[in-house]
Amino acid sequence: MCGIVGYVGHREACEFLLDGLRRLEYRGYDSAGVAITDQAGDVSICKTAGRIERLASALASSPLQGSIGIGHTRWATHGPPTEGNAHPHIGGERVVTICHNGVIENFQELKARLETEGYVFQSATDTEVIAHLITDCLEKESSESKVSDSVAPYASLVTAVKAALSQLRGTYGLVVMFRDHPGVIIAARLGSPLVLGIGDDEHFVASDASPLAGYTDKIVYLSDHQVAVITADSVRVTHRDHGEVRHSVENLQVDATDVDLAGYPHYMLKEIFEQPESIKNAMRGRLCEDDATAMFGGLNLTPQQLGSVNRIILTACGTSWHAALLGEYLIEEFARIPVEVEYASELRYRNPPVDPGTLVFAISQSGETADTLGAIREMKRKGHRTLAICNTVGSSIAQEADGGIYLHAGPEIGVASTKAYTSQCMVLSLLALYFGRMRHLSFDAGMRIINEFHALPSKVRAALQTDEESKRIAAKYSGANNFLYLGRQYNFPTALEGALKLKEISYIHAEGYPAAEMKHGPIALVDEATPSVFIVPQGFVYEKVLANIEEVKARGGPVIAIVEHGDTRVAALADDVISVPSVAEFVQPIVSAIPLQLLSYHIALMRGCDIDKPRNLAKSVTVE
Ligand code: F6R
Repeated sequence: MCGIVGYVGHREACEFLLDGLRRLEYRGYDSAGVAITDQAGDVSICKTAGRIERLASALASSPLQGSIGIGHTRWATHGPPTEGNAHPHIGGERVVTICHNGVIENFQELKARLETEGYVFQSATDTEVIAHLITDCLEKESSESKVSDSVAPYASLVTAVKAALSQLRGTYGLVVMFRDHPGVIIAARLGSPLVLGIGDDEHFVASDASPLAGYTDKIVYLSDHQVAVITADSVRVTHRDHGEVRHSVENLQVDATDVDLAGYPHYMLKEIFEQPESIKNAMRGRLCEDDATAMFGGLNLTPQQLGSVNRIILTACGTSWHAALLGEYLIEEFARIPVEVEYASELRYRNPPVDPGTLVFAISQSGETADTLGAIREMKRKGHRTLAICNTVGSSIAQEADGGIYLHAGPEIGVASTKAYTSQCMVLSLLALYFGRMRHLSFDAGMRIINEFHALPSKVRAALQTDEESKRIAAKYSGANNFLYLGRQYNFPTALEGALKLKEISYIHAEGYPAAEMKHGPIALVDEATPSVFIVPQGFVYEKVLANIEEVKARGGPVIAIVEHGDTRVAALADDVISVPSVAEFVQPIVSAIPLQLLSYHIALMRGCDIDKPRNLAKSVTVE
């Protein structure tokens, strides 16, 4: 939540800052701003309420010039999304200018203290407290300092920033510019991600790697409690409470074409159509025909540790939680290991019994979701081994876990998760095969599963051909105010995910239910104006779902059914049918997710919604 960028070097800072903010806009988009230091050392700020494009227009009419600057796109926590609450914020008499991502829990008490010392607050944000606090520490530092900046460059700035940070309770990703030291940016993180980009005589800071693509391919992932001192020709990283830290420079795996629209009108549509490739990437190098199993490079567990696993906890939020639920069905079916699926926000404050045989997987596209991070930390504290299933390389959850599996889906920018969801389902299917083959699954059964996996990308490609049909059906139902999504067994999670996709981008109320559970309450919602979307592939609950469709039809409810090619029985019952290729039951949820994503996309488009930036949401939820 919230995106931060920073630049120091030889080009016009504004160019990178605006470009970077556009790429980070998915993290928050209610207001934005930049601050640039010019050659004379004066800092100018431009802020606007609303989207980045408003900021871009303001900057086009009054350009800010200079080769050092910071910028921010906001998802409001403290204070409404006004221009005044937009970042950057200044401390004291423009002594420091800062942008912040995160939440400062003790800001009220710090604010009260600073106000008694004469600091005047201009905004309702928690961030402004940090700006004044750093200013305060700088002033105290300069009156007491015995360390000359010529001995350790910017030592007094670093000391003051660290002194301020040590008084904060909460989370921060922070960039700071200094009125009296116009050539340096200090960046710090605790609980909110920050990366540094290393260029030739220029350096970049950003909340994630996407702004760096096309500017540099060298990246440093900052860890919690690290403080970086960045000038045009140097980067030094120190620990907040200790000394200098050796930072490793890694190769950036994102390229500029991964983060542009490539001719699509929306990232969501682009990402839906990338799924044949992203699913292939999720299994690339992970299928081993010789042993009829899956293999993973980064689990960091010995065969003995893996063999002794007797319970698995899958924890996640939102869409990732739906993937986890499918994981439960698959792992229990293939491997006969008991699985529990936990909302991360609940797990982190519960106290489940600790058992040395329990393995915890945190599933997260962004790898930054605060609740999921909190849950994994809590599980580690209790002595559980924790693994991550993440998309974002170097993310906080990936760093925190003992090991893990990357999705390799490429950057997901549309706020509604699509390709990351199917990749999570794919990785969990591989995991189920992996644990299954360590236990009960025969070689032959393993090979049959592998063959289904191999065929999946082309089946997903074929499922994308439902786009036109989805559009036609969307036109018919886009005026509805309520939808039900119903599926059973492997497709119960698909129903939940279909409903979430619709509600988050079209603002239509939608509920996902196990199809048979409907008659225990939600069936009261069924009427002529409430469509029910059934996911009803062939399989062992097919007849049961058919009966559930009859129940809805008997009450006058319109039925949209996702069926397998050639299904005539459902077609005779349902009002509208979208047919997808036949695949084995356990991978059907991946194929069936495609028309549900397309249906939501077209309905939202027809209702004039902002597909990639739905109201009130942000891609990466880094607050509790
Ligand atoms: C819905 C969506 C959210 C996320 C949730 C968890 O389309 O994207 O529900 O799935 O916020 O995010 P990650 O997976 O990044 O932890």
